[in-house]
Amino acid sequence: MISSDTFTLHFRPMQLEDIEAVQAIDRASFSTPWPTRAYHYELNSNSKSILWVAEIDSPSGEKLIVGMTVIWLIIDEAHIATIAVHPDYRQLGIGAHLLAKSLESVIRRGAEQATLEVRASNHAAQSLYKRFGFEVVGRRPRYYKDNAEDAILMTVNNLDQDYLVWMESRLNERGSSWRYS
Ligand SMILES: CC(C)(COP(=O)(O)OP(=O)(O)OC[C@H]1O[C@@H](n2cnc3c(N)ncnc32)[C@H](O)[C@@H]1OP(=O)(O)O)[C@@H](O)C(=O)NCCC(=O)NCCS
Repeated sequence: MISSDTFTLHFRPMQLEDIEAVQAIDRASFSTPWPTRAYHYELNSNSKSILWVAEIDSPSGEKLIVGMTVIWLIIDEAHIATIAVHPDYRQLGIGAHLLAKSLESVIRRGAEQATLEVRASNHAAQSLYKRFGFEVVGRRPRYYKDNAEDAILMTVNNLDQDYLVWMESRLNERGSSWRYS
């Protein structure tokens, strides 16, 4: 049990030493988690990749990685490659803050549009993306190899300073009590 009054939620760029904790979240969240070499490639060799972790800090100084995301930024288009929150820490607002932080970071670097694929059955994630203005723009039949599930394509356009202000208001609307840095 965690209390958002007791812990501070913090976001920082992912580092190589985070990979073990990140993979624990990945394995707990996806049927086809990324192999270790994929994280090494993204961190060491992919200049288009922006990687964040969400970490909670307890008053005693303990730190725990509870969320992660990888976004690729190609000129003005961002693609959310992965995002997940540890199952024990879901539905506390962390995913929303993590997505917001990631979008903010790519908008400040020139992104005007963000895209992603999500499993057709993944209503939690689709709901999260819709909250941030993503709309369904297509469907890729049998996209996921493990169960031949369709992918839903979602996009948000017109990312700019006004969008950042709107996104902030969406976050505050929920009344999250996280102390957030
Ligand atoms: C999707 C995910 C990242 C959301 O993280 P989270 O920290 O639980 O999300 P939040 O608590 O910030 O919720 C934000 C919004 O997401 C949606 N949401 C989250 N969990 C939901 C659920 N179980 N059912 C329906 N909507 C849900 C809601 O719109 C919610 O807003 P609300 O609380 O105002 O209704 C998390 O469920 C997860 O890691 N899932 C497994 C990995 C995954 O599917 N990633 C996406 C791949 S495309």
